[in-house]
Amino acid sequence: MGDITFDFSNKVALITGAAGGIGGALATLLARSGTTVVLADLDAQAIETRAASIGEQGGSALPLPLDAGDAESIDRLIGEVRERLGRIDFLIPSAGIYPASEIDQISDEQWRTTQRINLDGVFMLTRRALPLMAEGAAIVNLTSVAGHRGSVGHAHYAASKGGLIAFTRSLAAEVGPRGIRANAVSPGIIDTAMTAEARALNGAEWVASTPLRRNGSAAEVAAVIAFLLSETASFIHGEVVHVNGGLFMAG
Ligand SMILES: NC(=O)c1ccc[n+]([C@@H]2O[C@H](COP(=O)([O-])OP(=O)(O)OC[C@H]3O[C@@H](n4cnc5c(N)ncnc54)[C@H](O)[C@@H]3O)[C@@H](O)[C@H]2O)c1
Repeated sequence: MGDITFDFSNKVALITGAAGGIGGALATLLARSGTTVVLADLDAQAIETRAASIGEQGGSALPLPLDAGDAESIDRLIGEVRERLGRIDFLIPSAGIYPASEIDQISDEQWRTTQRINLDGVFMLTRRALPLMAEGAAIVNLTSVAGHRGSVGHAHYAASKGGLIAFTRSLAAEVGPRGIRANAVSPGIIDTAMTAEARALNGAEWVASTPLRRNGSAAEVAAVIAFLLSETASFIHGEVVHVNGGLFMAG
């Protein structure tokens, strides 16, 4: 995929999970398109490095450490963004974990941790970010094919992502009248660190059941997110866009 760009000059984006594969690819694309990107992640060193690299390429990036499942940490993040940048045009909560265990092996604690980071964290961030978002702003959540059809060995993850689909639709219904758009992307199997272990176990089977016969790249997901954030998608709202090479086809 070539180096696409959008006209996002003077926009401010808050990306969580910005040290990761999809969040990182999105940060690079948005920064190249003129956006000031706030890079939030648990991995403080990785976002510092990414911000420096964006800066070297002429972009503007602000790295801020975050525990996406912790209300106080989110309060600190939003407080800093308010003080230093004053507003949020694009909100992309991409931080997430993908634990593996069959249901009879998932501890109550593992279940709660997964919901806390993948689902509660998105709600807590969204509620705190909304006061900084005005008409024309846009939100894109990261759900998953697992949220539509379930996932053997990942029930806690699938449940968190299914919850996010319902949250995104509810959010869209509430913020639409304010001129804020909210959508989600639903990736299939994407080559990032998150899926490395599972791909080592199931990779061949997953590729065989994907009609395009390959996994996706983080850049391919980032491009769809950027499109949804852009004015080109100005009438797309409350939608879940699949980016999965045909692995799962649904309305
Ligand atoms: N990779 C895929 O195949 C795939 C498929 C469907 C959905 N997704 C979703 O896309 C999003 C991004 O995934 P990715 O592939 O880039 O994964 P990744 O593992 O490359 O990145 C996830 C990032 O989230 C960060 N993170 C984890 N817990 C955190 C916490 N408590 N606080 C702050 N940051 C935290 C990690 O440090 C990491 O940088 C996730 O929400 C994931 O569930 C990914």
